[in-house]
Amino acid sequence: MGSSEPKGFGGEGVQPGAGDGRGEGHPEPARWLDNLAPYDPVSSLEKIWARPQQVPFKLDWNESTIPPSPGVYQAIVRFLSHSNHLNWYPELGSRSLCHALSAYVDLPPEDILVTNGSDDALELVCKTYLEPGNKFVVPMPTYTHFLVYVEARGAEVVPFYSSDLFDAGVDDLADVISDDTKLVYLVNPNNPTGVTYRADRVARLLERYPRTLFLVDEAYFEFHGESVVGLVGHFDNIVVTRTFSKCFGIAGLRMGYLCTGPATMRQLKKLFNPKSVNRLGQIAAMACLQDLEYYRNFVREVTEAKEIFRSAMARRGLNVIVTPANFVNMKVPDPARFCLLLEEEGIYVRDRSSLPRMESYVRVSIPSVSQVHEVIRRIDRVLARL
Ligand SMILES: Cc1ncc(COP(=O)(O)O)c(C=O)c1O
Repeated sequence: MGSSEPKGFGGEGVQPGAGDGRGEGHPEPARWLDNLAPYDPVSSLEKIWARPQQVPFKLDWNESTIPPSPGVYQAIVRFLSHSNHLNWYPELGSRSLCHALSAYVDLPPEDILVTNGSDDALELVCKTYLEPGNKFVVPMPTYTHFLVYVEARGAEVVPFYSSDLFDAGVDDLADVISDDTKLVYLVNPNNPTGVTYRADRVARLLERYPRTLFLVDEAYFEFHGESVVGLVGHFDNIVVTRTFSKCFGIAGLRMGYLCTGPATMRQLKKLFNPKSVNRLGQIAAMACLQDLEYYRNFVREVTEAKEIFRSAMARRGLNVIVTPANFVNMKVPDPARFCLLLEEEGIYVRDRSSLPRMESYVRVSIPSVSQVHEVIRRIDRVLARL
């Protein structure tokens, strides 16, 4: 080896595998990641696969409980029958889908950006707008995964607790936001509380804080039916995100989108990767939009099933808070044991009792009407054992 060999290339210096902490001879990650732990997703899939003989009810992540429209499968099969299509990159910028979405959201295609799930859109906003020390306001509890994106940017989280867990408390929220708030995250309807934000109330926030970006996550829009997306054409400081993972039933294909005006879109496109959205997802999402009646029918089913579930549980002495989304919150005496016993019955729900002010609550995604009757039957078996 020559004397010009740089340090650390097998000579003196770095000891490979000598621990992974800071200052121990390893590449150092950004300082603001110090407080983060690797994301540890809690998925019921492995448990479901371990019990192949049981019909499962996956009610923990608010996915659809029915397959997507038959048109989705037909479109994918048609696409795959052209043998050379998978070796090409996807349609850059999902242009065809932006045009189809334009009619769906009633905005010009230029105001729409299709992303790899709406998580991708949420992260893009954080990467583009947040830097260490920025103030970020969020009503709590919220969609917890979003906080990872904020913390990964080193921003300071300012939590807002409404006096009533199930009311937005927008007036109080307005006073927590200040001129130096960089970003506000509103989930409409909120996961997990179901709290909603009316467009006129959000418009007042946008007017009062023009230098603050308001990120409104409408993952559950289709179930609620009300949206703030109409504000996009009038204000520069709003981004609305949506997804195909919930009502449209293609969570496994990772399709989402955001809507915003030209000024913010220009900034977001600086970091956006136009080939990050997969081709099968693009095809499937187009097919979803061509069969809206199928999805309207599913929303009607879920709406009916929510009430069937609520009244059935009330008769059994359990309090269910119905939300405008496809999930409810149910108060149970021992959430951890309740969830465990439910799993033995093949029902997977989300224990939310560790969230602030959600003690005793489990969140249950609501399926179709015929499915909810079977869910209630299985819950009865669990209640007999509690
Ligand atoms: C409020 C909210 N936003 C975003 C997501 C993630 O959606 P996607 O599958 O589009 O990334 C979820 C998923 O649970 C959610 O509840």
